[in-house]
Amino acid sequence: MSFYQGQTALITGASGGLGATFAQELAARGTNTILVARSADKLQALAAELTAKYQQRNDIIALDLVPSGAASNLASKVADLGLQVDILINNAGFATYGNFETTEPQRDRDQVLLNIATLVDLCHIFIPQMLERKSGSIINLASVVGFQPVPYMTVYAASKAFVLSFSEGLWAEYSDRGIRVLALCPGATATSFHEVAGQPVPDRISTPAEVVKTGLKALERQQSYVIPGWMNFFLSGIVPRLLPRKMTTLVAKGMMKPKS
Ligand SMILES: NC(=O)c1ccc[n+]([C@@H]2O[C@H](COP(=O)([O-])OP(=O)(O)OC[C@H]3O[C@@H](n4cnc5c(N)ncnc54)[C@H](OP(=O)(O)O)[C@@H]3O)[C@@H](O)[C@H]2O)c1
Repeated sequence: MSFYQGQTALITGASGGLGATFAQELAARGTNTILVARSADKLQALAAELTAKYQQRNDIIALDLVPSGAASNLASKVADLGLQVDILINNAGFATYGNFETTEPQRDRDQVLLNIATLVDLCHIFIPQMLERKSGSIINLASVVGFQPVPYMTVYAASKAFVLSFSEGLWAEYSDRGIRVLALCPGATATSFHEVAGQPVPDRISTPAEVVKTGLKALERQQSYVIPGWMNFFLSGIVPRLLPRKMTTLVAKGMMKPKS
């Protein structure tokens, strides 16, 4: 029987991109899904597709995860459905791109709240429940940009550095208490992410399926983090450890500088 068979996964940001791909891949492995994002219509369509294709349960919760209290609101909706969360996938997130002084302060604040605060809140809510059952899995979406500062995506890279460090810390705290925690650190992946950030799409780009499959394999192996793609691993997992921080930051500045 698959590791995922009969479990229930709560997936944030499931209306598209990596979150929707997590839902597809997990449903195919026999996992029930709870799909969360703001776009109710997209969640509904995905849940209907999964229900028609696989013999498992799919629920949707349409919710904005930025406002304070969003995580506890989500948890009470999950409880209302009579479900327990065996696998938590903290995937919802977005980036701002451009000179720091030109980015909308409220948008940067929302970014920090979604990428960091709600993710921490959801871990606070679901880890005690997992500890009671002595079992559970968490995948937090970090990024290759979490390994070093990235000018012009400065807030985003800092938020993902938080997610990476936070997840590795939790991995160490809980790996001998029945809970797996993984920081999934993709490089550029073909989703709406770049369009939402207003950033040019990079040349070297992975598919969401490649990223998600690598993440699930790493979770099964109880890794603390994984960088999908050997070139991403070399450039983000190795190079920043070898070069002075100032140098890698300035190289990133050259690569990321907005054209106009
Ligand atoms: N694509 C990449 O190159 C890349 C690389 C590294 C890491 N990542 C990370 O991967 C994760 C998924 O991103 P993606 O690439 O799949 O991007 P995406 O296609 O833009 O998907 C983002 C998801 O987050 C949801 N979301 C955004 N704001 C939300 C809010 N306020 N409340 C609830 N849900 C919200 C969106 O749904 P609604 O708009 O319907 O709410 C959508 O489902 C993010 O954490 C991102 O930082 C992406």
